[in-house]
This record gives sequence, structure tokens and C-alpha cells, in this order.
Amino acid sequence: MQSKNSSNGNRGTGKTPNPELLTPNLVHTPVLLHEAVDLLAPRPGGVYVDGTLGAGGHAEELLNRSGPDGVLIGMDQDAEAVARSRERLAQYGARAIIRQANYRDIAAIIEESGYSSVDGVLLDLGMSWFHLKTPDRGFSFMLDGPLDMRMDMNGPQTAADLVNNLPFSELARIIREYGEEKRAGAIARAIDKARARGPITSTAQLADIISSVFPPFPPRRIHPATLTFQALRIAVNDELGALREGLDSIMELLKPGGRVAIISFHSLEDRMVKQTFVHAAKGCICPPKMPVCACGKKPSFKILTKHPVVAGPEELEKNPASRSAKLRAAEKI
Ligand SMILES: C[S@@+](CC[C@H](N)C(=O)[O-])C[C@H]1O[C@@H](n2cnc3c(N)ncnc32)[C@H](O)[C@@H]1O
Repeated sequence: MQSKNSSNGNRGTGKTPNPELLTPNLVHTPVLLHEAVDLLAPRPGGVYVDGTLGAGGHAEELLNRSGPDGVLIGMDQDAEAVARSRERLAQYGARAIIRQANYRDIAAIIEESGYSSVDGVLLDLGMSWFHLKTPDRGFSFMLDGPLDMRMDMNGPQTAADLVNNLPFSELARIIREYGEEKRAGAIARAIDKARARGPITSTAQLADIISSVFPPFPPRRIHPATLTFQALRIAVNDELGALREGLDSIMELLKPGGRVAIISFHSLEDRMVKQTFVHAAKGCICPPKMPVCACGKKPSFKILTKHPVVAGPEELEKNPASRSAKLRAAEKI
């Protein structure tokens, strides 16, 4: 499906970051920074991958702690994030290999960089602070902008495409499943009614349509559009599909003793990570009735986080974005 936002200027190229956005007030504060890097236990000379560079905070810490010869292969599907990280990590020279790529293609990027396996991989999922604070990108219901939400500006579909073209039932499913929104049906109906009058093109317009479904009293703890915007962002960027493919590759690419750490912000993502780790840490999976094991499966990973690591009170106070973060890690046997 093609974007209808023809007023996007150069944003369709995915190549030319806007220099005005490279400003400190849009810097993303890394979530669970020390906890995640401690779990990866970087060693001097190791090869580490950050699949979601963002502003490069976790990547920088990995470089600092794997010096002086450690290598960091970093990727982000967003051209802005890549530009910011290149600038931030320039001081590390050839130790930092940075690519614009989706981490679902992590195997190809690692191979292209000259490696066949790595010592550690970090994913810090979701969107970055600068996505939210840049109205032009269309992620925020607080700042009016085109209804876009693509992290990769070459991506095939915008949020406007979904909102204006998906059948009612599919729209309701996305809002219910990815947003865990109890009023998904009513919201999808309100969108359906509104789009019959003309296309929905801006974040403010969509936020108003969603808000109309909620009674004004009692006031809600979160903005009425929060969960629907989250659901659309997940669908636009196929975030769960990328995680499924990325996780499978990561589990293969790690060296024995190599570690994976994943920070997720959504229960569906956390469940996928947890189930993948549990499956990898399990031995025989034959039905209990089998007298002897026929599957031959041996544990290939050790889980390092029995329960997910969450932000402590100090981080929660400084960075409310850490509220729903869950960190899990595992080590290849
Ligand atoms: C929460 S931020 C990462 C912040 C980063 N750890 C830091 O310290 O600044 C998530 C980043 O992941 C990127 N991203 C999300 N899904 C991705 C994917 N499938 N492939 C590559 N990058 C992705 C987003 O564009 C965003 O920049």
C-alpha cells in the first residue's frame, strides 16, 4: 500500500535527516542502561550488536565496556537514528559499524560486517523519544502532524493508510490485540464513521475521533488515544513480525557463552521473548507418555533473568518512559 502523505517532502527517501532534529532536547534517555549492559557482560575485544540504536546510548556503553578492541555493530531502521548514532559514536572510529537496517535482517548485516557469530545482542524495542517529540513523524497524539508513524520512511504503509483503508473488523482487531484497548470496537466504529465523511490525515484528527468514544468523566489516567496510537504504530512497523524473525536469527548467531538482552514495552513482545528463551532453555520436549526421548532436544540457552528486570524507583522518577520496560536475558550454552 502506498503512502497517501504526498506532502512528505524528502521524508520518503529515508536518507536525508533533518539537521534541526539533531538537537539535545530530543535526546532519548536509555532505559535500564546499566542493567542491560551488565547482563550482556561485555568483554574486551568482543563483538556486540545493538539492533535498535536509537540515540546510541546503549551502544556507547557497550563500546566503552568492550574497549579497546571491542566492536559494535549497530543498526536502526530509522535514518534519523542512524545519523544521530553516527555522530555520537564517531569517536570510536572503526570499532563502531553503523547501518540503516531492520534488525529482522540482523544475520545479513552481521555477515556483511565480516562476522559469522557475535558475543552479545541487545534489542531495546519500540520507538525513541525523538519519534514522539517530532510532530512531522506522526507518532504523537499530543502534537499535530501527518498520520504517518513509520520508523523506516521507506516503509510500505502509513498509519493513515491503515486507518482509512482497513476493513472495520481488522482495524478493531489491531486496536484490541496490539493496544489491549477495551473499547476497540467502539473506536473502530467511530473511525469507520468519520472516514466515510473524508480521509483521516492528521494525528490530532484521529485523537479527536478516538476521544469522542470516551466519556469526559471520570478523567482517565492516560490520554484516550494512547493505546490506539500504540496499536497502529505496532501494525505500521510490523513490530511483532520483526521481533519474531529477529529473535530466531539472534539465537542462531550467538557464540557459545554469548548473551542476548531484550528490553520490551508491550506484553505481547515480552511474552514472545519469554517463550523463546524458555523453549531454548528446555531439554526434551517429547510428550510425557513417551517412554524414551525421541526428540533429542538439549537445552541450548541458560535463562539469566528468572523474572524480568524492571526499572527501580530512581529511574522511574527520572524517566517515566521506563515505566513499562521489561528486560530479559539469556546465555547460549
Ligand atoms: C527505544 S529506541 C532505542 C534507544 C536506544 N537504546 C538508546 O540508547 O538511545 C528504539 C529504536 O529502535 C528502532 N527500531 C524499532 N524497531 C526496529 C527494527 N525492527 N529494526 C531496526 N530498528 C528498529 C527505532 O527506530 C528506535 O530508534
